[in-house]
Amino acid sequence: MSDEVLLSTHEKILGKQPDEKGRYSRLPLGLLFFFSGLIFFGGTYLGRYSGYFHPQIYNENAPVPKVGQLIVAPPADPMVVGKAAYGAVCIACHQPTGLGLPPAFPPLVGSEWVAGSEERLIRILLYGLQGPIKVKGADFNGAMPAVGPGSGFNLNAEKVAGVLTFVRKEWAGIDKPITAAKVTEIRGKEGSRGPMTVAELEKMP
Ligand code: HEC
Repeated sequence: MSDEVLLSTHEKILGKQPDEKGRYSRLPLGLLFFFSGLIFFGGTYLGRYSGYFHPQIYNENAPVPKVGQLIVAPPADPMVVGKAAYGAVCIACHQPTGLGLPPAFPPLVGSEWVAGSEERLIRILLYGLQGPIKVKGADFNGAMPAVGPGSGFNLNAEKVAGVLTFVRKEWAGIDKPITAAKVTEIRGKEGSRGPMTVAELEKMP
C-alpha cells in the first residue's frame, strides 16, 4: 500500500484535509509547554493551598466571624472534665464502679446524697466530710478529704462542678449539670473552713 493510498484512506476516515504540503501537522510544541506549565502550576497550587485536604482547615460553610469578634475554643464538656477528675481523685476510694468499699468508703451509686441537694454535694467536695453518715441504710464513719481549690487535690471550680455533674448523671440519672458558677458562689459564701459534718449539712439547703 502506497503512502498516497494510506493518506487518502486516513482522510476519508478522519474527514479531514491535509495542509498544502500534503501533510498533517503535529501538535505545536508550544501547546506541550503550555499544558506542562498548567499541570506544574496546578500541583504547586494544591501543594501550597490544599490544607492537606483536612476538613477542619478550611470550611467554606462556617459562619463568617464578625470584625473584632474573638475566636475562642468551645467550652470543655463537663462530663469529659468530670470523668477525668473522677479517675484522678475519687476512684481510689469510691472505686471505678462507684460502689465504694464498705465499710470504709460509702457508695455513690444509688446514694441519697448524690441524688439529693446539689449545695450539700458541693460542700462535701469543697470542704470534705467527717463523722457518722448513713448511705443507703448503712452506717459509715470515716473522713473524706476536701478536694476543692486550695486542698491537697486542688480541683478548680470547673472540675468540682464537672465531677459532680458526671457522678449525678452516671449514678443518679440526673441530667441537670452542676455549674462552676454555683461552686464559686458557695465557696464565696462559706469561705475557707474545716470538714463538714452531717449535722451541719442537714441544716443547709
Ligand atoms: C480518701 C478517700 C476518698 C476520696 C479520695 C473521696 N472520697 Fe468521697 N467519701 C469518702 C468517705 C470516707 C466518705 C464518708 C465520710 C464520712 O463517713 O463522714 C465519703 C463520702 C462521700 C459522699 C457522701 C456519701 C455518699 O456516698 O454519697 C459523696 C457524695 C462523695 N464522698 C463523693 C466523692 C467524690 C465525687 C470524690 C472525688 C472528687 C470523692 N468523694 C473523693 C472517701 C473519699
